[in-house]
Amino acid sequence: MSADSLDSLYTGHLQTVMSRTDRSLAATGFEALVIQAGGPPTLFLDDQDYPYKVNPHFKAWVPIVDNPLSLLIYQPGSRPRVLFHQPDDYWHKPASLPRAAWTREIELTALPDPSKAAPYWARLGKVAFIGPPGSFDDAESESLNPPELLARLHYDRAVKTPYELECMRRASALGARGHRAALDAFRRGASEYEAHMRYLEGCVQREEEMPYNNIVAYNENAAVLHYQHLERRVPSELRSFLIDAGAQYRGYASDITRTHAASPGRFAELIELMDGAQLRLCGEIVAGKDYREVHLSAHRILGDVMHDIGLTTVPGDEALERGVTSVFFPHGIGHLLGLQVHDVGGVMGDVKGGERQRPEGHPYLRLTRMLEPGVVVTVEPGLYLIDSLLKKARGDEAKRTLIDWNVVEELRPFGGIRIEDNVVATASTPENMTRAAFASLERSSKAA
Ligand code: GLY
Ligand code: MN
Ligand code: MN
Repeated sequence: MSADSLDSLYTGHLQTVMSRTDRSLAATGFEALVIQAGGPPTLFLDDQDYPYKVNPHFKAWVPIVDNPLSLLIYQPGSRPRVLFHQPDDYWHKPASLPRAAWTREIELTALPDPSKAAPYWARLGKVAFIGPPGSFDDAESESLNPPELLARLHYDRAVKTPYELECMRRASALGARGHRAALDAFRRGASEYEAHMRYLEGCVQREEEMPYNNIVAYNENAAVLHYQHLERRVPSELRSFLIDAGAQYRGYASDITRTHAASPGRFAELIELMDGAQLRLCGEIVAGKDYREVHLSAHRILGDVMHDIGLTTVPGDEALERGVTSVFFPHGIGHLLGLQVHDVGGVMGDVKGGERQRPEGHPYLRLTRMLEPGVVVTVEPGLYLIDSLLKKARGDEAKRTLIDWNVVEELRPFGGIRIEDNVVATASTPENMTRAAFASLERSSKAA
């Protein structure tokens, strides 16, 4: 699909955003909406800024992700207006006004000085403002980020428009290229740091553009769920490689994890079993399904994998019941994905907010909602050898006897496994955007 056809999908996307906003404003008693794109905070006692990350509410409307202090103004019944920040600044290069086809759908006006923007919304009635702290100094507190308005917008956002789905397919395609480049680096014996650099090159994005910090973990480091270091030194033995890294396309994220073994053996076999388990779980992403059920199903399926590989002595059902699966799989099976990697609204009961409870004993599950067509989730089963959790299990008689500690010792040097895809719920067969992206990359390499 070309950029032009993506732009034609944008028209429908904007209509959906407008009609959702119309409903939410009406329900909360507001007559118009102003969103500020945000601005990067400055470092303490310094004149340097942190990397800029756009307000997700702003990028939900327009694919402008790199121009701080811009504003979006919307009054139901009128075209959205973007006040595009263009300061008179000879230290930096001010952004040029976008000219792509999507700009035909909005009013685009240059804004030299954001402190002079208020007249644009002075006559719009009761205005709701959305932006990070400090973005609207004059806004009354009940008009600034009104919780019920935000809740409604967050709830609706879980169902993606065709435009958003296409952006996310492209984010998966970019991520797949990065993953392939990083795997090549690992296979060549490069360090974590170098694999990370090759990843960025592979998807042609800067580190600041990543939707979250890349997790690039060799050997035991793969047991750290959000491992944050990048070792420059190559370990004396390369056993395993876990990489959790995504990309962005027009502000939409992918969130992809792959785990690789350096050589055949029990760990490589376990990756194969996990891959099969992950695919089965992806098959459960169908409209009408309660995502909490997918999470519990993951515990049963992974419990069987643990049993098959010899880590535990009981089948999955029993392992879940007796709490042993959480020793090796201590996080949720996934989350909403979109404008943010952990997209908002995952545990909301309805448009007004509230909370849809997590299953008891599963505090880290980020998504408890029913699946609907167009909802995008991650499916990311994991199995890790985490010292602190193993130590606790060893001290707990009920769990200790269900674990084969020799197998634990054999697998511990490999750290762990996670396999993560981005999946769209449909009324029938789920769409796995990530597997499709890797398959397409494979096909184009073969054709080349
Ligand atoms: N990369 C963060 C996560 O998988 O949720
Ligand atoms: Mn991830
Ligand atoms: Mn994830």
